[in-house]
Amino acid sequence: MVKASFDQIKGFVFDLDGVITDTSLYHTKAWHQLADKLDVAWSKTLEDGLKGISRMDSLEMILKTGNKENDYSQDEKVALATEKNTNYVNEISKMTPENILPGIKDFLDDLRANGYQIALASASKNGPTVLKNLELTDYFPKIVDPATLSKGKPDPEIYTKGAELLGLAPETCIGVEDAAAGVQAINAANEVSVGIGDATLLKEADVRFDNTAEMTLANIKKALG
Ligand code: G6P
Ligand code: MG
Repeated sequence: MVKASFDQIKGFVFDLDGVITDTSLYHTKAWHQLADKLDVAWSKTLEDGLKGISRMDSLEMILKTGNKENDYSQDEKVALATEKNTNYVNEISKMTPENILPGIKDFLDDLRANGYQIALASASKNGPTVLKNLELTDYFPKIVDPATLSKGKPDPEIYTKGAELLGLAPETCIGVEDAAAGVQAINAANEVSVGIGDATLLKEADVRFDNTAEMTLANIKKALG
């Protein structure tokens, strides 16, 4: 499919965890802890697969990995997910602007200065708290509320809603993600996908950078033409 050229881009729709900040490490730590408690073997594949996935879907993925998806009632599952979230919330309560990933603040300033619209498309219900602790709330006037979604990433819904909130056609938006499920969601929403991280994991991204410091408007322009 032919995607937009750089000149057609009007807005950016951002994932949060692993893109704006390193919270993916805290999610991973909290899930790993729960998996150990449930006696489910942890692996890099499971770790990568959980990225971008909603809280309850993440728990289901962990239980399925250990063939334990039928071992718990719905109430017990909610209690396990709440336990993970309590540990995660404790971690993010310590966050400060120092936890913003390299280059992100400059990139957001550059986007603002050049008139691009900005939205957040994170599956995390803790997104607004994280932005507040990073002192980035003002950069994100539009945030997709994950509670309103009927399907999680890789479904395009969250990215489609992000473009909608900006009042832009999806084709004129760039989505930024660190997760394979997220890149798939951006592509399915018909937006231009920018992946941050591993080349194999993010092979479906239209543009990819090894890290956030490399994500600049100039580099995106170079890649898109
Ligand atoms: C993001 C993260 C996932 C996390 C999900 C839900 O997509 O990448 O690791 O599970 O948000 O986060 P929450 O804070 O609502 O549990
Ligand atoms: Mg992410």
